[in-house]
Formats: sequence, C-alpha cells, structure tokens
Amino acid sequence: MLWNLAFLALPAVTARQVSIQVDVGQSMGPYVPTARFFGADEPDYAFYPDGSATLNDLGHLGPHQTYFRTHNLLTTGNGLETTLKFGSTNIYTEDAEGNPIYNYTVVDRIFDSYLKNNVKPYVQAGFMPEALAINPLPYFFNFTPTSAYNDIYTGWSHPPKSYEKWGELIYQWAKHCLERYGLEEVNSWYWEIWNEPNIPYWNGTIPQFYKLHDYAVNGIRRAIPTARVGGAEVAGGPSGDYLGNFIEHCLDGTNYATGEKGTPLDFVSFHAKGAPNYINTSSTSGYVQMGIAAQLQNVNDAFKVIASYPQTKSKPIVVGEQDPDGCAACITPQYGYRNGLLYPSFIAAGFTRTMDLSKKYGVNHQGSLTWAFEYDHDEYFSGFRVVTTNRIDKPVLNAHRMLVKMTGTRVKAISSGQQPLEDVVTNGVRNATDVGAISSVDGDKAYVFIWHYHDDDLPKPDAEIDVAVEGLSWNGNARLTHYRLDNEHSNSYTKWMSMGSPQNPTAEQHAELRAAGLLATLGKPTALNVEGGCAKVSLSLPIHALSLLVIEKEDSN
Ligand SMILES: *[C@@H]1O[C@H](CO)[C@@H](O)[C@H](O)[C@H]1NC(C)=O
Ligand SMILES: *[C@@H]1O[C@H](CO)[C@@H](O)[C@H](O)[C@H]1NC(C)=O
Ligand SMILES: *[C@@H]1O[C@H](CO)[C@@H](O)[C@H](O)[C@H]1NC(C)=O
Ligand SMILES: *[C@@H]1O[C@H](CO)[C@@H](O)[C@H](O)[C@H]1NC(C)=O
Repeated sequence: MLWNLAFLALPAVTARQVSIQVDVGQSMGPYVPTARFFGADEPDYAFYPDGSATLNDLGHLGPHQTYFRTHNLLTTGNGLETTLKFGSTNIYTEDAEGNPIYNYTVVDRIFDSYLKNNVKPYVQAGFMPEALAINPLPYFFNFTPTSAYNDIYTGWSHPPKSYEKWGELIYQWAKHCLERYGLEEVNSWYWEIWNEPNIPYWNGTIPQFYKLHDYAVNGIRRAIPTARVGGAEVAGGPSGDYLGNFIEHCLDGTNYATGEKGTPLDFVSFHAKGAPNYINTSSTSGYVQMGIAAQLQNVNDAFKVIASYPQTKSKPIVVGEQDPDGCAACITPQYGYRNGLLYPSFIAAGFTRTMDLSKKYGVNHQGSLTWAFEYDHDEYFSGFRVVTTNRIDKPVLNAHRMLVKMTGTRVKAISSGQQPLEDVVTNGVRNATDVGAISSVDGDKAYVFIWHYHDDDLPKPDAEIDVAVEGLSWNGNARLTHYRLDNEHSNSYTKWMSMGSPQNPTAEQHAELRAAGLLATLGKPTALNVEGGCAKVSLSLPIHALSLLVIEKEDSN
C-alpha cells in the first residue's frame, strides 16, 4: 500500500532512548505524598454542588489525607458570592455600639463540606472584616480575568482598627471549631495567618503584620493549646529577606500579643510560582512555554533560608501555593497550558524536584499545594486554573492521583534521561527533554512514577524507556499495573475535543467525559516474571505524558 511506503520513506525521528534503574535496597527515607494539598481564592464554592463534588474527588485521591486552604474565610459579604477572587462568610459584624457579632453559619458550611468529603481544613485566618478594617472602603471589587490585578486590593487587605478585637475574633472562631469538631479533629488541621503579606495582600507595615500574626496565633492557641500553627505564606520572587526575618521574629522577637519572647511556629510555609510565556513570532505559530525554573528558584531560595536556622531546619514545610503561574482566575494566552498534558507534566517535574531540593537542603518538605479548585456555572474547559470543569476531572488531577497513590519507602531511581537538578533550577527544561523517575516500595509492591517533560508545548519524539527494578526481596510471578496519562488515557480534554468541544454535552456525553477524566491504565494488568530480585519493563512515553508502574507479587493483595 502506497501510504505504507511513504511512511517508510520518511526520515526517522530519533526516539529518545532512556534507561531507568531502581534499586529497592537503597532507601531514601519515607515517601512523602506532597501532592495532596489544594486551595482557592473563593471559599464559598465548597458548598456549591460542583464544588462539593470536586472536594469529594480531592478527598479520595489516594490513601493519604487531603487538605484545603482558602482565602476570604473572614471576609464580609453575603456568603454566596460567585465573583472571581472574592468570597465571604460574614463571620464578623458589629452592632451600633461597636460590640462584636459573630456568625459562624457560612464558615461552618464550608468546613462541614470539607469534612463530609474527607478533606481537612488548612485554615487561613483572613481577610479583614469590613467592620474591623482601619480603611474599609471600597471593600468589594469586580475582577475580570483580563483586568489589572491591582484592582483587587481593597478594604479587606487593611490592618484592624483594634488588634484586641482581631485577636478575640480568632480566639472565638477557634473555640467554636473546637466545640463543633472536637479536639482530635482540630489538632489535625493546619492553622496559618493571612496570605502573602510581602505583597499588597497586606496593606500594612512588616511590624504590623507580625502584630496581626501574633495576636491571631495567640487567639488560636488560647482556644486550642495543641493547634498546629505556622506561616507566613510568603510570596516567592520579591520576598527578599522576608521569610528569614519572619522566622527570626518567631524565634527571638518580642511577641506582640504576650510581650514574651517568640511566637509558636510548628510549620513553615511560603509560595513558589512559575512564569509561563506565550511565544508568538512570525516564524512560529504561537505556543506556550512554561517557566519551571522560576518556580523551583522560589523553592530553592526558601529551603535555603529555612535550612539556615537550626530551629527550623527540621520543621515541616508546606509550599502553601506551588503553581505554574500566579493567577488562577486569569485567562490570557500564556495560561493556555491548563487543559491538556502540559499542566500535569509540569506538576510531575516540579513536585518531584521539590522533593529532591528538600533532600539537598536536609529540610522537611511535607506538602506542595496546588492553588486550583473549580467554578460552578463556568463553561467547559474555559481556561481557568481549575482541577475539574462541570464535574469532569481535568488531566491535571491524574498527576496528583499518581503521586498520592505511592506509599512506603522512597528508593533510589536513576534515569539516564533526567536533567540534573541544578540545571533545571537554573535553566528550566529548554533543550533536551526531561525523562525522570521516582520510586517507592511498600511491602511486596514497587511503584515507579515516570514523566516526560519539556517547557515548550511543541511536538517531540517519544521516549523509549527500559525500566529495571532491582533488589526486590522476592521472585516469581508478579503483576504489572500501568497507569497512564496521555492523549488517549485519563484525558477528558482530548475526549471533549473529539466530541467537537460541546458547551452543552448530552447526558450521555457528560457521563463519557466524567469516565474519561478518571485515572486509567494502559491496557489490562499483565504478568511479569521477577528473577534474581529484578523486574524489567519497557515502555514508550510521549512528550508530556506520565506513567505510574505498580509491580506487585502475584499472591499479595
Ligand atoms: C447568620 O448568617 C446567616 C447566613 O448569612 C443568616 O441567615 C442568619 O440570619 C445570621 N444569623 C443571625 C443571628 O444574624
Ligand atoms: C494601601 O491602601 C491605600 C488605599 O487605602 C492605597 O492608596 C495604597 O496604595 C495601598 N498600599 C499598598 C502598599 O497597597
Ligand atoms: C500571534 O501573532 C499573530 C501575528 O502577529 C497575531 O495575529 C495573533 O493575534 C497572535 N496571537 C496571540 C494569541 O497573541
Ligand atoms: C543541548 O543538549 C545536548 C544534548 O542533549 C547537548 O549536547 C547540548 O550541549 C545542549 N545545549 C545547551 C545549550 O545546553
């Protein structure tokens, strides 16, 4: 047949040959499931129908506990806002004499929805209720996805007119949570104060932020002496010495609320954002170029600071927002990575490198929080940074599912195609593609997670990969389950496009899209023979695709 000959006549595209060697005998400590933290600006979707369904997805990603962080838990409003980057609970108002009125109705609905869906709060005390802000007006704003971002910093970003009233609000709220959910439950939460105080989210000075922080932490700890408190959710990039100075305040400074030395700090948090570009020259049709280096430099800089204090070096760290860019609610061409494979492969290459940076600095990284949730009543695949669209899981969620499926001990995995850590931190992945792997072992089960990443959203040859898992303590029959995310598997977006991108899918199409959004395998599980403690698997991995191999002893459960 003619087309066959034509195919043979094409110049060979050289596939990337890669070998991955896993040594089960070389432990790197516990595998830390960092990809189980999520968050959003808008708190109220948590109890909307699609928001609640999305929480249920997040609460059942894998065997590890999911947490959710949200802005605006203390913000004034009707508690039903569906405005971008805004939301409210109306937890605090004052009567005509200026006496506080606490109303927990909406904030309880939010946390109730988390807990009902097996998600725990990563509580953020923020933002400033209108009745407490020194400079409250204007308080509301209208954000459009292409407007100037600075328009959002209204009255809610201002310091309180009374730090005593602020501290008392936090105390009353924490006490209410203790009474409503019980000590064991609230002890398992994270509690932090505000968001990115080093940029205009905080319209006050640095000492004023420490004061806000100390009064709030004191309020939480008065109500729940064992609550896990931390911070300061510092924005990466322009942070300078902010994180180090904050840590020093917590270690040695005078506590603004108690007058004593120091402020409790059970965990440290900061933010790390990438910097995507839209490349559109006369010689190319436009494409997105991710900026993974910018994000990893934020991580690198913050880990270095945390490691430099003996008192914080071993404290748990949560990267409280770790994303490809800085605006979930914005839609412009450089954000065109969010629907397809670019986003999950970026998560894979970035989150695993964050684990490696933690090893490098000897710090205790516990979480990387994806700032993406969902918007009820939005279009299908509209382009916001979200994990679901109209109850359909987007491909990115399957990167999280793979990463949190893994359990046990992390073991050494060497890939001949993986770009060196320092090189990716400095330059990103702009030249050869990055074919990387991490592995863990749990009893008679071995996991190998493999990614194929490049910053550019351009075609690249597949990687032809030979995997050898050595040092298994058993031989004989094994079962290989191969989870796969690519254009044909675990991918609701390509399915939706193949339907003609319907904005009003039929019920049948919708069900098909929901099924396509789940984590799928590449065929049925297959039999493997483990000999001399070694299992061998070969696979072909397209650019921006992900594989999770699970190899288990045939007679194990
Ligand atoms: C508390 O807030 C809810 C929800 O906004 C409202 O329905 C209720 O009337 C408020 N309670 C009081 C006592 O004002
Ligand atoms: C603080 O808010 C005022 C308006 O009340 C504004 O003029 C000023 O630019 C803000 N400062 C910062 C650092 O955002
Ligand atoms: C890319 O460049 C072309 C030609 O200059 C222009 O027409 C098009 O609008 C640009 N696309 C985007 C998304 O900026
Ligand atoms: C690009 O990668 C190739 C090998 O993949 C290497 O030989 C070359 O030096 C690299 N170029 C740059 C600019 O890093």
